[in-house]
Amino acid sequence: MTRQPETDLWWKKTTVYQIYPRSFMDSSGNGIGDLEGIISKLDYVKDLGVETIWFSPFYTSPQEDFGYDIANYKDIAPEYGTMANCDKLIQEIHDRGMKIIMDLVLNHTSDKHPWFLESKSSRDNPKRDWYVWQDGKKPKGKAPPNNWQARITGSGWYYDENTDQWYWAQFLPFQPDLNYRNPEVKAKMFGTVRFWLEKGADGFRLDIIDSLYEDAAFRNNPLSRHLLPSEDGVLFKSTKMTMHHPDTMIFVQELRKLIDEYSNPSRFLVGEVEGPMPTIKKYCGEVNNPGLNSIFLFETLGVKLQPKTIRKLLNKFNQYYPDPFIPTWVSSNHDIMRRISRFNNDLEIAKLNAALQLTARAVPYIYYGEEIGLQQNSIPLSDSLDAVVSRFRKLPKVIQKLLQKITSEAIHRDNCRTPMQWTPSQNAGFCSPSIKPWLPVSSGYQDRNVETMYNNPDSILHCYKRFLQIRKQYSVLNSGRMTLIASELLPKQVLGFSRWIKTSDVKEEVNIFLNFEDTLVEFSNPTASKNIIASTTIVKAENNEQKIILRPYEAIIME
Ligand code: NOJ
Repeated sequence: MTRQPETDLWWKKTTVYQIYPRSFMDSSGNGIGDLEGIISKLDYVKDLGVETIWFSPFYTSPQEDFGYDIANYKDIAPEYGTMANCDKLIQEIHDRGMKIIMDLVLNHTSDKHPWFLESKSSRDNPKRDWYVWQDGKKPKGKAPPNNWQARITGSGWYYDENTDQWYWAQFLPFQPDLNYRNPEVKAKMFGTVRFWLEKGADGFRLDIIDSLYEDAAFRNNPLSRHLLPSEDGVLFKSTKMTMHHPDTMIFVQELRKLIDEYSNPSRFLVGEVEGPMPTIKKYCGEVNNPGLNSIFLFETLGVKLQPKTIRKLLNKFNQYYPDPFIPTWVSSNHDIMRRISRFNNDLEIAKLNAALQLTARAVPYIYYGEEIGLQQNSIPLSDSLDAVVSRFRKLPKVIQKLLQKITSEAIHRDNCRTPMQWTPSQNAGFCSPSIKPWLPVSSGYQDRNVETMYNNPDSILHCYKRFLQIRKQYSVLNSGRMTLIASELLPKQVLGFSRWIKTSDVKEEVNIFLNFEDTLVEFSNPTASKNIIASTTIVKAENNEQKIILRPYEAIIME
């Protein structure tokens, strides 16, 4: 098979919208979002201007981790619909000229998956080796096999009395890790990938792919300097033996070969990988043996919105991901505090953040609701449905408090998963006013909803629409290079960069200017651009080739 040229591929230019199926739109009247609900809102998604939709998992699952605990990779959870609904969803997305990314949880299954039930049933069950089982250091469950910690702290080993062995789970206890050293497991999961590719999946988001393989000799993890989760470990233990294993790198290269067999359109992989940039980058493989097509670069989630910091980040992304690579730009997702709450819920700052995300040289991932300024909710810990919470409750109170202060998102993820807000009516149009949505709607929905924002051309929703539209229209914005404008040429509160493409003698270019403060700023135009082609506000300023005026938190694109 001939490989497509690495330039000009759709997934490098696309804009992605993440839908958390449980929270998007309830069509069946049970307070839980579903596939038919999503289908009924596809025209909205299309009109917003995004080109690709990524769905958090909607496969069969006991929903202990809301879909990230899969019990059948080839069927749909009944609360979301049926396979027929899913086929229709894929078709309807494609009919609108959009693409679909499925969430692929390769690392673990649910402990209710028939494979695990078999595996657990006896030591000589043919599927015993499909999961990671080990003898303890002491008999009868008195000591686990080694010191390995789960991703979310605490030992990741769980004792099974019946067979007197321990199984390994990187995430929560009900998510046992599959054993990819067993060729049957690998073949089965590659078969699953093909199943979805044949159904029309245009790409996959790979859940905690960095944790797929562990040390084959089960050696202890060495000590780390860090108490809190860090790049080097957690609770003073490093993750050397449990993350970023060389065999995982080989696996992603094999997976890439598989998806590259499918072309027209080409498919792609985006990996959830955590760690320092040089480690993450390794997952992209080599030119002749590529790995992941792209990787979530999570530094954007918490980065301070300041010219100096953003300048550094843009430079770093350029340095690590020069063409033919492309960085990603994620502001929020289903695991992390919604970005707008880091800006005091200020809509003008959120527009600035959107303008940055949609003009940077990166594939933007927009989390549902960001486009209407949907706020982080404040459901108390005691009412939380998130399984992760139970884990944190086991930690000493002092550590709980410390973690909560520093990483509130890690403890409680319900607050960023609340229902999409469609109308100002009760339950925000997500479900009928007479039923209880699975999570309470966030405050402020009376103003922050699609219907209200559609009627206000200066709303954040229209700001997203303008920037998405222009990004699609101008190839410099969706596939051009990026050069920062020297900070000496700009006021301190302003960041400027150009996006450009040079072909033979012609250079196309647009310039982006962002004002990071709440004061108006005026300065001489350091570029030859004359006209504003998009702005975060709809009130026109008198910018021209000599002078640029930016209102508080305003961002503009000039050509
Ligand atoms: C990362 C996912 O984003 C998160 O929601 C999930 O709980 C874990 N992986 C486990 O699958």
